[in-house]
Amino acid sequence: MSRGSTARVEVLGAGIVGLAVADELLRRGHDVRVVDPAPARGASWAAAGMLSPAAEVSHDEPALLDLGRRSQALWPGWAARLGLATSSTGTLLVGRDAADLQEVDRQAALVRRLGGRVEELDSRGVRDLEPGLAGRVLGGALLPDDHSIDPRQVLAALLERVPVQPEPGPPGWAEVTVLATGSTPPAAYVDRAGLPPGLVRGVRGEVLRARTDDPPGRTVRGWARGRAVYVVPRAGGEVVVGATSEEHDAPPVVTLGGLHALLEAARELLPGLDRAELVEALARDRPGTVDGLPLVGPTPDPALVMATGHFRHGVLLAPLTAELVADHLDTGRVDPAIDPRRLLENR
Ligand code: GLY
Repeated sequence: MSRGSTARVEVLGAGIVGLAVADELLRRGHDVRVVDPAPARGASWAAAGMLSPAAEVSHDEPALLDLGRRSQALWPGWAARLGLATSSTGTLLVGRDAADLQEVDRQAALVRRLGGRVEELDSRGVRDLEPGLAGRVLGGALLPDDHSIDPRQVLAALLERVPVQPEPGPPGWAEVTVLATGSTPPAAYVDRAGLPPGLVRGVRGEVLRARTDDPPGRTVRGWARGRAVYVVPRAGGEVVVGATSEEHDAPPVVTLGGLHALLEAARELLPGLDRAELVEALARDRPGTVDGLPLVGPTPDPALVMATGHFRHGVLLAPLTAELVADHLDTGRVDPAIDPRRLLENR
């Protein structure tokens, strides 16, 4: 395809990343076919939708944080284009006991070091913000700039704009194929581009959804007796409780142990959840990479572009990924930090 012209692009995968990429390419005048036999039912269907770049980094990850912040800045405008709004009530970090509070302090210090705003809170300050946590935590910290969104609403809005086909188009139709297949890149394309096995690996996440009369007013990300958990409220009293994180090569299923761990931690912090109605429990694989950064851009096969490997950050990074893939097709530009070839050349 010649740069600057429009192209026939097949996007494999109709999760939030594939649909976002397709929507952006359509906007820019490309001819797009999205292929997925089960659209919008992968990792983004399970995602909690935290738009929380600093709370989701676990150590100094400046490249990831930079991507997260750039994408977070795009989110309000992108959501508005989809007829949606982000919730901007922030993230509350809380710790149940002294060791848990150290985790809060560690994360808060990291956020601060990376330039984010943090408001430290004692147990009373936490209680004033979230009465449901009263008496359950020693203290916390508010990250006031975090947002969240319901990924299922985003998927529904994107599916209204982007038709999805169950099967690939006729051979030779596509000038470019975009692999947005999350943790399961199709073998034929892996072989075609000479991608190494294990370039993307599944990291199981189990989540549950519950309905409560007494949801927290903002995302609560807590540590309770050494277990990490997050509780993300949605409009209408639903909360998403997540998430386990487990490397494995078996199909992602909800386990009793996973559910137990999530419930134990969530109920330690928010005992009012005992009265909540369990709505759903599900497990999906996050697409992990060896360096924790996504794979967005070219492969050795000039007709194959990647948009995967987003690990815990697919929802946050969807609008930026869409822009970067479209920019790459339009101009050839590649962001070196997430260029897939960085992981291919070293093997
Ligand atoms: N982004 C949250 C998770 O992957 O659990």
